[in-house]
Amino acid sequence: MSKNKTDSLLAVPCGSLQISELSPNTTTGVISQSIQFSLVIPTYKERDNIEKIVKILSQVLDEFMPKDYELIVVDDDSPDRTWEVAQSLMDEYPQLRVMRRQQEKGLSSAVIRGWQAARGNVLGVIDGDLQHPPEVLTQLLRGIQQGADLAVASRNVEGGGVSSWSVVRRFLSRGAQVLGLIILPGVVGRISDPMSGYFMVRRSALSGVTLNPVGYKILLEVVGRGRMRSIAEVGYVFCERKQGESKVTWKQYVDYIHHLLRLRLATGRVRQFSQKIGFPIGRFLRFGLVGLSGVFVDMAVLYLLSDPTTLALPLTRSKIIAGEIAIFNNFLLNDAWTFADVSMEQQGWSQRLKRFFKFNIICLAGLMLNVLVLNLVFNFLIPNRYIANLIAIAIATIWNFWVNLKLSWRVTE
Ligand code: GDD
Ligand code: MN
Repeated sequence: MSKNKTDSLLAVPCGSLQISELSPNTTTGVISQSIQFSLVIPTYKERDNIEKIVKILSQVLDEFMPKDYELIVVDDDSPDRTWEVAQSLMDEYPQLRVMRRQQEKGLSSAVIRGWQAARGNVLGVIDGDLQHPPEVLTQLLRGIQQGADLAVASRNVEGGGVSSWSVVRRFLSRGAQVLGLIILPGVVGRISDPMSGYFMVRRSALSGVTLNPVGYKILLEVVGRGRMRSIAEVGYVFCERKQGESKVTWKQYVDYIHHLLRLRLATGRVRQFSQKIGFPIGRFLRFGLVGLSGVFVDMAVLYLLSDPTTLALPLTRSKIIAGEIAIFNNFLLNDAWTFADVSMEQQGWSQRLKRFFKFNIICLAGLMLNVLVLNLVFNFLIPNRYIANLIAIAIATIWNFWVNLKLSWRVTE
């Protein structure tokens, strides 16, 4: 055991999930020499697998590209202390680096954080549970050497398959792929195994790109947002797990659909149009949906407080409380969803409080605008209170959105 145990861990990159062009190490100001290949091994509770996989991967890569690669284990603070086991292997395997994440969680972001700390010109990922056969690595690397921007290990090309999956699991897997083809044909249609978690990509095809994944399927993100001109595929058989257990639950299916839709919005025609006119349509739609949820919250609280069958409090007092709770609801959702990318850059309670304060004031101003527009439209333009109200709501929503975009969730230094 070395004396400085914690010092030998990699620092966890923070901020947005962007892949930089140059190798990092900006903290020291020295640009460390780049290497050919960085392979990230995301782990969660893989104590019984980690030594074996590090050993096999090192053997394969030592032969193929001695000293020109690194293995980066990114562990999410596993309760079985996988990171500690990995760390204890560092003396024996000098190409091994270990990151222990304690703040963030999740497979996809683990992979990206690993890539952000990587020095390689080619960035790869492999599961830490030996379900991905390490021998395939050299074929994937050859694919890249022959000019591919992305090389994917696939279960659905020649030489590929799954070992002994049940009919149900096969069906679910295929069903997910078909769904992907429907929602996101331009991305999912480019690869025979879009669910693969075993692939490598040229840094140059990802640099400058900010990834924003949900759930497990990081390959979708890479193909959807990166600049993949040519893609190579290599067949592999997905082995059975011998140690530990899979972390896949039903939540991954929900995340997957969410991810498909988000990518569709981010890369589809809507996005192109939105860039052309300089208006963030996707964000505005989310803002609108959040606003709609606020209406329900407002109504429910108003009912609970003022209805004669419930608390029967005075109407105005009830409405003020209901409105404020709705504003709070909207703030939380907007902060976590609509403007997630911005709030991630500005974490911490005081920052969040500041945003909430601004949001509150802007919404109150929006309410006044709402009343004003309603009166103007009703009295001078369209003498129908409901149409006038719709117009007033639309204008107030755009105001709320735009001013909050510019003030509350503005990207500051
Ligand atoms: N750091 C980190 N954080 N690692 C994680 C997390 C997490 O939250 N969840 C899972 N992992 C690691 C596991 O330790 C393992 O090394 C790898 O990610 C894959 O997780 P499994 O739970 O074993 O997934 P699987 O075997 O069901 O799914 C695999 O096959 C899919 C193809 O159907 C994965 O490779 C998927 O990425 C792949 O898409
Ligand atoms: Mn697995």
